[in-house]
Amino acid sequence: MHIEPFELERFFDRFEHDADIMLAESGIEPRDTAEFDTDPGELGYVIPTGGDPAFRETVAARYDRAPDEVLFTCGAQEANFVTFAALMGEHAVTVTPTYQSLHAVPDAFGEVTTVDLDPPEWELDLDAVQEALRPETAVLVLNNPNNPTGRYLPRETVEALYDIAADNGTYLLCDEVYRLLAEDPLPPVASLGEFGISTSSVTKSHGLAGCRFGWVAGPREVVEAAANWKDYTTISPSTFGQHVARQALDREAELLAENRAQAADHRERVGEFIADHGLDWHEPTGVNGFPTVPDGFASGRSFCEAFVREESVVLAPGDAFGVPDRFRIGFGLATEELTEGLDRLDAFLARHG
Ligand SMILES: Cc1ncc(COP(=O)(O)O)c(C=O)c1O
Repeated sequence: MHIEPFELERFFDRFEHDADIMLAESGIEPRDTAEFDTDPGELGYVIPTGGDPAFRETVAARYDRAPDEVLFTCGAQEANFVTFAALMGEHAVTVTPTYQSLHAVPDAFGEVTTVDLDPPEWELDLDAVQEALRPETAVLVLNNPNNPTGRYLPRETVEALYDIAADNGTYLLCDEVYRLLAEDPLPPVASLGEFGISTSSVTKSHGLAGCRFGWVAGPREVVEAAANWKDYTTISPSTFGQHVARQALDREAELLAENRAQAADHRERVGEFIADHGLDWHEPTGVNGFPTVPDGFASGRSFCEAFVREESVVLAPGDAFGVPDRFRIGFGLATEELTEGLDRLDAFLARHG
């Protein structure tokens, strides 16, 4: 069994630790621990290991599902991993560009056909999805809103995708980690019917990556099979993570209002910068955008490497998502850091103009 190196993580690993500013983080600015009670009492495993039943009931209600149709995990990364491990037979179809796990993990278990979103607006061609499906396709994979493009496919597209998958006897797995950053979130895919699966976490929309707390919601047989794998990965979610995540969901309306307001303000600032510098992007939902590479650079990678070396600010090269002529900017950081990062980018572009 082989898995490809995670290109984005490898790039960040080279530069992130020593850089002054991280301008490529995909989630909203992290919250401070002081905002939460961080004493869960006894530091045992979470029992039952699939997650606290009452809290699972709360999360399951978002999907019109029963508590045993939700499994708590260590972040969405684990939710995706154990779900792919549970589902994969021979073949999956993944809509790309996307977060690398969503094609690399199923590819480690079987074969993956990718269907590209079409720039500049990153539209999805449903006929291409239909053509990519095979009778044996176990799962169709979507990330909506999408990382790295910020494209939020509309309700009619997602429902059409669900119907295409269900008619083929294929599950539709939607990674929805950015869903709650949308002003008007779509119904989650796990609520669409028996073939719908949603994965999510408190990492991106709530700003709580350090909780390492996420979940998969979907049909009971899928959740049970994923739980079977989870017994071999992390056993239970983090006791701290579950304790803080519960408080975050109790205060969700307040947290999301703040986070969405910050995302909107920062989106506008970055949008103006992009327009002023003759770049192009699809105005994103969430806090990730995927602009074109400035003139004078051979690729997103050469641009990002020169920028971090000269200005100590990290952007992400588009080739980490299979799109070499783009770069990803993440604007969910503190406003002062965003302003400083954009000032340094302005100076850098002036020097290289
Ligand atoms: C689409 C997507 N899914 C999952 C993850 C990982 O999320 P978590 O921190 O909840 O494991 C990321 C992180 O960037 C992501 O962009």
